Amino acid sequence: MDQLSKNFMKNPIRVAVTGAAGQISYSLLFRIASGAMFGPEQPVILQLIEVPVEKAMKALEGVAMELDDCAFPLLKSMVLTSDPKAGFKDANWSLLVGAKPRGPGMERADLLKDNGKIFIEQGRIIDEVAAADARVAVVGNPANTNCMIAASQAKRLTPDRFTAMVRLDQNRAQTQLAKKAGVDVTAVKNIFIYGNHSPTMFPHFGHATINGQPVPEVIADHEWLKGPFCETVGKRGAAIIAARGASSAASAANALVDHVRDLMTPGAVHSVAVKSNGAYGFDPNVWAGMPVRTTTPGSYEAITNNEICCDFVKEKLAITNKELVDERAFVASMIGA
Ligand code: NAD
Ligand code: LMR
Repeated sequence: MDQLSKNFMKNPIRVAVTGAAGQISYSLLFRIASGAMFGPEQPVILQLIEVPVEKAMKALEGVAMELDDCAFPLLKSMVLTSDPKAGFKDANWSLLVGAKPRGPGMERADLLKDNGKIFIEQGRIIDEVAAADARVAVVGNPANTNCMIAASQAKRLTPDRFTAMVRLDQNRAQTQLAKKAGVDVTAVKNIFIYGNHSPTMFPHFGHATINGQPVPEVIADHEWLKGPFCETVGKRGAAIIAARGASSAASAANALVDHVRDLMTPGAVHSVAVKSNGAYGFDPNVWAGMPVRTTTPGSYEAITNNEICCDFVKEKLAITNKELVDERAFVASMIGA
């Protein structure tokens, strides 16, 4: 049987994407439709959600025209809507990208109030109308806390169905380590992100390896690892905003492809922000980045037994945990917590 015929045999996955006319989606949707996220044999239906504003809906029509013009064999149909109930209906994956992006000089906390309202509504509606196997990935910032907010509205879907993206930070950290060591990016393994998707995150180099050797043995400059490395990864988003005048988009879309693809690939070990169970000192009510191992497609177990070896690491984890706890406290009244 040829590839095209095989594609017709599988039921399409319904993928709802918010902010579908935005910058990230302009890279993301074409990658999903080409098979990069769910594989070359998995047909998809894109359910594209935008705000009920003429300009946004018109732009969305243009994006859909371009998707049509690619004649992607895996793209079975599209729904274009400003009604979240129609957009999330029967969705297997809901990718929550749409949010107000951070501008120059703004910190994520500034966005909490505006974006919190969006994620309360979307969490409630996804819980009501999405598929029985619904999975949710949050990208819109502040991603960890938005994810916590969306999950807080769910009665049917369990908290493990809601994940937030820290994969862009993992990818950034991998490249920075490779550059410092003068090796190919593929030589760097087991670099995972702990905590918030914000400058407080901790890219834990202590368990990472380069060509199988522990990073602290390969990179002798430990002051660089503890200082400039963590700072560069943590502040990379702001550096891109300063350089581009807009927040990262293509790399964020690429990271979301990695996030979902690895969550659908049993055995993959990767950084995901998930509901804490208290491991690594994270408050049990926050969503914190940590390594997870995918068990079956869409399901995972958090890896919670990595050794926390020294005061430096403990301090880093405590700082990022405090920020997550503060963000939660800031929205507590909105979510009735
Ligand atoms: P953008 O402004 O280009 O696009 C956002 C889109 O979302 C807009 O088209 C807007 O109309 C839409 N939108 C807003 N509210 C919506 C709602 N309630 N329902 C549906 N659509 C809605 O922004 P962007 O560059 O695509 O970034 C999107 C978000 O992703 C921002 O919050 C940004 O900070 C965040 N981001 C996160 C990461 C990460 O690693 N987690 C990386 C980069 C960007
Ligand atoms: C990023 O990490 O590039 C984004 O989260 C943009 C931002 O607001 O920092």
